Amino acid sequence: MEQQYVIRGGKPLCGEVFVNGSKNAALGILAAAVMADENVTIDNIPDVQDINTLLDVIAKTGAMVKRIDRHKVMINGSTINNVEVKYNEMREIRGSYYLLGALLGKYRHSVVTLPGGCNIGSRPIDQHIKGFRALGAEVWIEGGNVIADAPKLVGSHIYLDMVSVGATINIMLAAALAEGKTVIENAAKEPHITDCANFLNAMGANIKGAGTDVIRIKGVSKLHGAEYSVIPDQIETGTFMMAAAVTRGDILIRNVIPKHLDSVSSKLREIGCDVYEYDDSIRVKCKNRTTHTHIKTLPYPGFPTDMQPQMAVALALSQGTSIVTESIFDNRFKYVDELVKMGAQIKVESNVAIIDGVMGLTGATLNALDLRAGAALVLAALTARGTTYLEKVCFVKRGYEDFDAKLRSLGAQIYLATNERELEKYSMIVLGDDRDKFRPEPERIMSQSKED
Ligand code: UD1
Repeated sequence: MEQQYVIRGGKPLCGEVFVNGSKNAALGILAAAVMADENVTIDNIPDVQDINTLLDVIAKTGAMVKRIDRHKVMINGSTINNVEVKYNEMREIRGSYYLLGALLGKYRHSVVTLPGGCNIGSRPIDQHIKGFRALGAEVWIEGGNVIADAPKLVGSHIYLDMVSVGATINIMLAAALAEGKTVIENAAKEPHITDCANFLNAMGANIKGAGTDVIRIKGVSKLHGAEYSVIPDQIETGTFMMAAAVTRGDILIRNVIPKHLDSVSSKLREIGCDVYEYDDSIRVKCKNRTTHTHIKTLPYPGFPTDMQPQMAVALALSQGTSIVTESIFDNRFKYVDELVKMGAQIKVESNVAIIDGVMGLTGATLNALDLRAGAALVLAALTARGTTYLEKVCFVKRGYEDFDAKLRSLGAQIYLATNERELEKYSMIVLGDDRDKFRPEPERIMSQSKED
């Protein structure tokens, strides 16, 4: 049996939760780490499937990969003896393509299986290729692999046709060890771009302007060892903020950089939540039914596409009609059919979802579909009447560490069933709760009367 979540909704989530390190920053940083021939220690990496897959692939290059503890790894690229990383597992993750830039920069040659990642639309890599070519590499695709070869890498002026996180990081990696100066214009500004640049600089690179749309890189001849700690995960933080909003709870989210969540905080305030920002934590409190708004996903500092499905759940339960425009990926509304099974009223036309808020959702058997869609459906299930069975939990585990345990610590009823026996056991537990519903306990009567 494939793992699934058994979820019973209806409880406001309250309490404190700690966020792990950023998955997307860690993918770039771990790939960059192979560029040094000395020990590089990276802390605060999340223990999630995508990261573990990338670490396995890095080990296959011959690099030393030593897991010091659950969140800390030491990498040494001096033992690399294979720059042709063609493995099936690389098709499952997006971040594997960073090895292309990292190995090309260091060895002037790399072969990497075309990356996969979530199926949220067409995900070309033409901008990565354009950047490598501008640096002097020949790049071609053959048998499902990208091959990059450069007798010499020379800095260049590169204008990205669209803002791309992956292309910005990949070009930065190769250019860090190219000869001379590279300028990347129309660069992405996401927090993980800055984090990767800071990490490369900690290894001796010379990168300026990361976090703005013009990044200037002066190539250096080699990189050295470093110790580094990855920034907190922006999207995990946003997901817990949304969990407070949709369940009408009160959650203090710790180990975060509140600035990275500005667009999410402002939308939550707009729909009626209280958001309090502290130095390294955010508290979201929501007492009443939220109201409608419009959102459009944009590159950072705009509203993140990776928060679009979670926000749509909040809007599906908000009073009034909301419009969500997805401007980054062309197939990011697949989860809508699953929400409709729960009673949501959403219509999708091209890249726009029109959401008529409903008073409540009901549990159903659902498919997680992809990483953020899966997280959004968990949130929806936590608000729903009855039980939800969420299949294909493997998608959620790609990017959220201990998601179910963290949610349980906030009072959620969510269980991970890994076999039929557990599925039966957890179904009984949540059914037990359903029976409780009919018991006239004073506490239950009070909490019911608080509802709309
Ligand atoms: C990264 C994130 C992903 C996030 C996305 C946008 C990682 C591992 N994944 O994905 O979670 O949703 O940023 O914030 O960090 N494009 C091209 N040609 C290219 C590159 C991109 O046309 O060469 C297009 C894409 O199809 C997309 C847009 O540009 O429409 C943005 O993509 P990009 O920022 O590159 O996303 P990823 O790096 O794949």
